Amino acid sequence: MCGIVGYIGKQDALGVILAGLEKLEYRGYDSAGVAVLEGGQIKVTRALGKLAELKKLFAKRDAQTIAPLGIGHTRWATHGKPSENNAHPHTAGRVSLIHNGIIENYVELREKLQSVGCEFKSETDTEIAAHLLNQNLKAGLTPYEALKATCAQIRGSYAFVALDAQSPDRLLIAKNATPIVIGMGEGEVIVASDITAVLAVTRQVTILEDGDIAEVKIGSLHIENNGSVVERKPQTITWDPLTAQKGGFKHFMLKEIYEQPQVIPETFRGRIELGRPGVSLPELSLTAAEARRITRVVFVACGTALHACLVAKFYFESLVGIPCEADYASEFRYRSSTLDADTLVIAVSQSGETADTLAAIEKAGQVARTLAVCNVLGSSLSRKVKDVIYTNAGPEISVASTKAFTTQLVALHLLALRFGALRGTLQPEVMRGCVESLMHLPKVFSEALRCDSQIEAAAKKFAKARDFLFLGRGICYPIALEGAIKLKEISYIHAEGYPAGEMKHGPIALIDENMPVVVVLQRSDLMFDKTLSNLREVESRNGKIIAITDVAGHKALQGVCDTVVELPFLSEFMSPIILTLPLQLLAYHVAVFKGTDVDLPRNLAKSVTVE
Ligand code: G6P
Repeated sequence: MCGIVGYIGKQDALGVILAGLEKLEYRGYDSAGVAVLEGGQIKVTRALGKLAELKKLFAKRDAQTIAPLGIGHTRWATHGKPSENNAHPHTAGRVSLIHNGIIENYVELREKLQSVGCEFKSETDTEIAAHLLNQNLKAGLTPYEALKATCAQIRGSYAFVALDAQSPDRLLIAKNATPIVIGMGEGEVIVASDITAVLAVTRQVTILEDGDIAEVKIGSLHIENNGSVVERKPQTITWDPLTAQKGGFKHFMLKEIYEQPQVIPETFRGRIELGRPGVSLPELSLTAAEARRITRVVFVACGTALHACLVAKFYFESLVGIPCEADYASEFRYRSSTLDADTLVIAVSQSGETADTLAAIEKAGQVARTLAVCNVLGSSLSRKVKDVIYTNAGPEISVASTKAFTTQLVALHLLALRFGALRGTLQPEVMRGCVESLMHLPKVFSEALRCDSQIEAAAKKFAKARDFLFLGRGICYPIALEGAIKLKEISYIHAEGYPAGEMKHGPIALIDENMPVVVVLQRSDLMFDKTLSNLREVESRNGKIIAITDVAGHKALQGVCDTVVELPFLSEFMSPIILTLPLQLLAYHVAVFKGTDVDLPRNLAKSVTVE
């Protein structure tokens, strides 16, 4: 996710902004830029790459210069490739503006603005907001009213910070679904996307809420929400700088687990419609005729991303009714290929840089049609495929993947729905049910986070175990695999994921009183009773069972289990996403009890760019 810093005050705005952006570097970015007001003129400087590249451009700046007002941004590309032109700030007339988030109706707004003579210099959605604000100012509105009018025209998620060259005493700020905070210091004001960038100026921080539109000057902050003036009480932040980077969480992994209710909507934002209902993926070039010609779908990926593919296999088989397989990219790349032009090969990768996944898709692309589900815009993978669906999860810092995985599941579900609609295999009521479930997912996921303390207690109890077995059936089998990989990655405990029905063909030999067995049980599992029988086999060998389920108050299940963690039920297709959460938390808490390096586990890399 991008970083935002704005400043008004006694210090040189440029220096404060660059120092603030440095504090946000951990979030990951591909370009950076600043706009300062000097002598009544907006001076914009932007560079592709790291902040060091941007700083080089100021080498000749007079050290005595003091710009009293400015805004700066580190961009993590979502609309338009990483480039100097696409870097923020974006300027239109007297306005310069930075933005985090996604403007959903940008195509329609861009056309409207072009029709009244606005010229666009970038491929971004953000530039639209700069033009709209400038137009509203030109129409004679005050800066604050112009910002309100701008927000009323925009649909989507945003944190905007803008400056108006004709109002050098203020910054204009708006927030919807993307964080922004304001620090009021002594004779200075700092605005940022993240508390960590504010602390060098002040520890008094006002956190804006969704729908807030603010105008800040030195010593004054005016906020309105939904037309009424609101007061937001400043908080005193006592965190040290590293804790601040982690948003107050002990580890990036925990921060990213807790971020999921906020990032999941970023994956489906602008892609689902309740009215019709339907899924639109404008980035997918596949036509209905082409979709009908596809005879087989092959998913390729590594690690956690492969588990997302295994869930996707269920989504595609159920919603599209097409033969599917999912394979490790490292295996697929060396197997004799049975692909043809009617095969669709889908690569899934958080980073888009995993060597085996790149090699697999390159091989596939020689004969088959290719598509990627990826989190990083402009990654190597995105350049090797015909179509890319981005997950929009923002940078994932912790090596163990959490929010990238759940957003991959959301993106793959959207893809299955779109594919089914294109092929005409999807009943409208199924589409409606799926779209409604997706809309409810963020709220239900937030509720599911309440299981944290119960999971922590279970983790404490079992943290000394040497081995864990994870079981699941059907669509929950890949979730069992994901639970196992998460645990072994960060706690270094040996863990195996198995289809519950296969337990009797091997793993049962390992079960004794020292073997915790985690079972992932979905309400709509047709084999629920069979899995229960498997659990009885575990119980009779003294194995300790932790059930992760969206079935409420099941007496027989409670009878055989040591711990039953009950999660809210939303729908069959949403269950794997919700049931992943407790497994992420289990791995996390076990690792914390064991004292391992949670965010940087030994021997592992976030992105494996070698074979
Ligand atoms: C590494 C990471 C895993 C990740 C896998 C695939 O092994 O440690 O967390 O799942 O690579 O990465 P990708 O970026 O392709 O999703």
